[in-house]
Amino acid sequence: MAVTPLINETEIRERLVELGRRIEADYTGRPLTIVAVLTGSLVALADLIRQIHIPLRVGLVQASSYRGATTSGTTLVLNETFAPDVAGRDVLLLDDILDTGRTLATLVEHLKDRGAASVRTVVLLRKVGRQVVPIEPDYHGFLIPDAFVVGYGLDYNDEYRHLPFVGVLEE
Ligand code: IMP
Ligand code: MG
Repeated sequence: MAVTPLINETEIRERLVELGRRIEADYTGRPLTIVAVLTGSLVALADLIRQIHIPLRVGLVQASSYRGATTSGTTLVLNETFAPDVAGRDVLLLDDILDTGRTLATLVEHLKDRGAASVRTVVLLRKVGRQVVPIEPDYHGFLIPDAFVVGYGLDYNDEYRHLPFVGVLEE
């Protein structure tokens, strides 16, 4: 399958510098923990944290959605083996893309239940016109049209994550 470039490496790098500056300003003097959602946000995590020049901790959580064969709903399964203790900490939840919003909304509630002092969200990409759960990311990199994108961490069947840019996967 072909990948048509949508956002190039330079654009991503420049945008992450801007986001890093804003996050830095917003969290100065606060106990920041960035919790990244595996696997899609790995590349963004590595690049974003190097643009945030204040003390911070990093934790990981894996979230996978399964569409039930018999039910109409989608179940989100969490693996928290590498999740940090967030009690009393200001948490910034990082995901690769906001699509329906289910993953982020579920994880925000979960982190609050675990005692986080505050929970904000940052996504590299925000897909327009797909959201079903009302959640506004506090920071986002780029708005994108309703297309299936890969690269810079995002996958199709676990492939394409290593592409250094974001592109639309064409049939
Ligand atoms: P949500 O819970 O529907 O917002 O889905 C978010 C998750 O779905 C992301 O963490 C991605 O793993 C995946 N996803 C949604 N749209 C895309 C896409 O266009 N390409 C690759 N993965 C996607
Ligand atoms: Mg994901």
